[in-house]
Amino acid sequence: MERFHTVFFAAGLGCFALAFILCLIFPWMSLKKYHGMDYAGWDEITRAERITPEFHQLAERYPEAFAQSFGEVGPESYREALQLGRDLYVGQACWHCHSQFVRVVSNEEQRFGKPSNAQEYQNVLNQPHLWGTRRVGPDLTREGGKRPNDWHVAHFIQPKNVTPGSVMPSYHYWFEADGTPKKEGFAIISYIQWLGSDRVYRDTHPEEFDVD
Ligand code: HEC
Repeated sequence: MERFHTVFFAAGLGCFALAFILCLIFPWMSLKKYHGMDYAGWDEITRAERITPEFHQLAERYPEAFAQSFGEVGPESYREALQLGRDLYVGQACWHCHSQFVRVVSNEEQRFGKPSNAQEYQNVLNQPHLWGTRRVGPDLTREGGKRPNDWHVAHFIQPKNVTPGSVMPSYHYWFEADGTPKKEGFAIISYIQWLGSDRVYRDTHPEEFDVD
């Protein structure tokens, strides 16, 4: 038995090396080198012209509460809001009921648009990605801009008031009694309104991206 130890050890290392190449190096090479897919880090995502109109609108609609939570609209406050929004999305297990991936089956295209592509996940807010598997609620990959902020405020406070019969839980504790968002309320709406904006920006500014 002793003499097999070395063989197993070497086989283990070999499998690890293979997995490393197949699951990390290989995808990275094909995305970055061959398809010119750029990775959007925080600096890129929070550039002034990429801040969503909805984030500006939140600041205008609730000037005092917004200033108390995030100060002024800018790359730093946007980053803080998106990061907190994503953390809440993960922490509250929104991903348990919502996917962020349009599949190529079951006529999903008719509901959510084109099937998702790799480029949509090449950014810091999708590391790791939140594809999800269950779909109790609709796919949210491109939720940004689909509905106004006010709709989301009403919906997060009590989903049933907006969509009768909804099984989505209420997140009223992220809002004051009069409906004004607290820091968490601003953050989750900012994140939801960001979803899909990376794709939209790339589609509308092809000159900035060197994709074939
Ligand atoms: C128990 C499952 C469940 C959980 C958990 C859940 N949702 Fe939902 N969600 C739903 C269902 C079902 C709908 C569709 C009915 C409705 O509009 O409320 C929905 C709808 C939505 C919509 C509207 C989509 C559209 O445009 O029609 C958004 C945005 C949303 N959810 C975000 C979230 C976020 C963010 C969280 C976590 C904080 C969350 N949901 C947690 C089930 C869930």
